[in-house]
Amino acid sequence: MRIAVCGKGGSGKSMISGALARQLAQRGHQVIAVDADPNPNLGISLGVDRETVETMKPILNALLDAGHTHNDPKPLAEDLLDHYGVDAPEGIRLVATGKIERPSDACLCCGSHNTTRQFFGELADVDRVVVADLEAGLNDLIWAKPGANDVVLAVSEGSEKSVEIARRAVVVAQELGVTRIIGVANRTVDEAGFARVAAALGVAEMFSVPEDRAVEIADQQGVAPMDADPSSPAMVAVSELADLIVKQ
Ligand SMILES: Nc1ncnc2c1ncn2[C@@H]1O[C@H](COP(=O)(O)OP(=O)(O)OP(=O)(O)O)[C@@H](O)[C@H]1O
Ligand SMILES: [Mg+2]
Repeated sequence: MRIAVCGKGGSGKSMISGALARQLAQRGHQVIAVDADPNPNLGISLGVDRETVETMKPILNALLDAGHTHNDPKPLAEDLLDHYGVDAPEGIRLVATGKIERPSDACLCCGSHNTTRQFFGELADVDRVVVADLEAGLNDLIWAKPGANDVVLAVSEGSEKSVEIARRAVVVAQELGVTRIIGVANRTVDEAGFARVAAALGVAEMFSVPEDRAVEIADQQGVAPMDADPSSPAMVAVSELADLIVKQ
């Protein structure tokens, strides 16, 4: 199974991706976490220590350093995962596809978006789950190109702009033929707020993750919310989201 997590900047994509990956791993799934953000921070939400996150290589620049050129066949995603991935808690393998350290060196047509496409599209998803924390906005969703067998989480907090981007993400996912699109209203404080997001997204499956002070505090301390307090309301909600996702 492959899960693409998209939405506006700050909507909670990384928090949900990290906690969801942990929850799925706890259920016995082999999980690959793909950080597609050019400014990667999924590692923190997953519970990877800062030093390890810092050592993660930007794949495109690393390949260029190793003498790889535009004309060479692209290395296999599985090999890149072995080479450039790092171990995260609960047996999760984390790879960062979005980061480019030296844009002057990089061929942008095979740059971060295309590497994200390769990881999301080519990593075998039989017997394992790929969770991709996409760059804010819609561009990465188009590049990742999820299909009929994939799951898209359209994440929104309550602001009108956030809801609008999640709504457009739903339209893009539908256009790509994704049949399982789950709207996630993050940081909900009441039923009315949830209903407003649900009405705007208009998807069959809607999910609520409550506003949770424990998540904010964990973020301020630079620790994963799952490590800070797995029983906090948002973590319990993401656990239920994991159950919902694997139910089918
Ligand atoms: N349910 C929640 N309750 C309280 N705070 C939350 C909740 N979800 C997310 N946050 C806070 O909102 C901020 C943004 O979350 P996060 O980094 O996951 O968003 P993002 O969509 O990945 O942002 P970006 O696009 O910048 O990567 C963080 O400070 C996080 O702690
Ligand atoms: Mg993020």
